[in-house]
Amino acid sequence: MYKLFFNLVFKRMDPEKAHYLAFRWIRLAARTPVLRTFVAAALAPRYKELRTEALGLRMHGPFGLAAGFDKNAIAIDGMTMLGFDHIEIGTVTGEPQPGNPKKRLFRLVQDRALINRMGFNNEGSLAVAARLASRNPVFRTTVGVNIGKTKVVPEEEAVGDYVKSTERLAAFADYLVVNVSSPNTPGLRNLQATEALRPLLTAVREAADRTVRARHVPLLVKIAPDLADEDVDAVADLAVELGLDGIIATNTTISRAGLRTRGDVVNETGGLSGAPLKERSLEVLRRLYARVGDKITLVGVGGVENAEDAWQRILAGATLVQGYSAFIYEGPFYARAIHKGLAARLNNSPHATLADAVGADVKKVSA
Ligand SMILES: Cc1cc2nc3c(=O)[nH]c(=O)nc-3n(C[C@H](O)[C@H](O)[C@H](O)COP(=O)(O)O)c2cc1C
Repeated sequence: MYKLFFNLVFKRMDPEKAHYLAFRWIRLAARTPVLRTFVAAALAPRYKELRTEALGLRMHGPFGLAAGFDKNAIAIDGMTMLGFDHIEIGTVTGEPQPGNPKKRLFRLVQDRALINRMGFNNEGSLAVAARLASRNPVFRTTVGVNIGKTKVVPEEEAVGDYVKSTERLAAFADYLVVNVSSPNTPGLRNLQATEALRPLLTAVREAADRTVRARHVPLLVKIAPDLADEDVDAVADLAVELGLDGIIATNTTISRAGLRTRGDVVNETGGLSGAPLKERSLEVLRRLYARVGDKITLVGVGGVENAEDAWQRILAGATLVQGYSAFIYEGPFYARAIHKGLAARLNNSPHATLADAVGADVKKVSA
């Protein structure tokens, strides 16, 4: 049904316009109490066996919405209604910014992929903090806040920009993510080098502790799939050394290898996401787990299209899994199908709990 709708309506529309249209419907449904209750009852994860603890937080299920879909924290309730158990908002930057000129989002339907060069279009840390502050506390959802650098801030002043966002947003974050891996902000990915990453993560940690004294705000870093393997190891070691809570692997890729889609769209500048990213994201995750084991929480993202993909991420070391691009192609039942399929896979596996399954494939190889 959704696929037919996608082909007849969304596919003919500009991808960014389709995004905002779907966004509007989701928000509208979430604001209509009867509809919201009905949809949430049908789609929210309700499998006892999937209840899990991650980052010191209690979750109903491991699958959540990746950053970039809800940059301004507008649709947290709507996306929760659709069955995503945690919602990562952002990337939010210190200052508001319009992002790159349009067109900046492209579909590669044959590859079930997207290319985007949105460039962190967002309302900025002050406005997003105000929106999060005004949320109805009755609607509990795990909210991750993903922060990045304001484009006009020079690289040498990046730390101050992240600290500003942290001071404004940490109080509303169940967990905080330092994004240094978007390909669409010039120089951003240089911050993944350990010499730059160490002072950045240290400063954000301190700012979060200074701002929120009553609890520990878990801090994660999100990395690119294009890092060389040695650099993945270096980030993993740094994360352990600094006592970080987790790593999110991965962001979009600048690679265009193996695409089936032909034509100019393939050469659009930006980050590629969706199915073609699957293999590399999984590989990075496996490498991270082999390096850090259970010392820190790993979040697997990139090309997760279905329950089997999500299960493979868990076996490779992910405690939490996220998706974005496949939601565009799969539609409103995407998160539900993943939670349902995960529960079935867990029940048919030798693992007593979800936590037991985390990293099982990697442990098997190294045993
Ligand atoms: C249109 C678009 C915008 C995105 N914006 C962000 C962002 O602002 N911050 C971020 O950390 N990741 C962003 N991402 C990356 C996703 O969070 C995710 O890491 C990536 O798309 C891989 O997952 P997927 O294959 O399930 O889409 C964006 C992805 C897309 C497709």
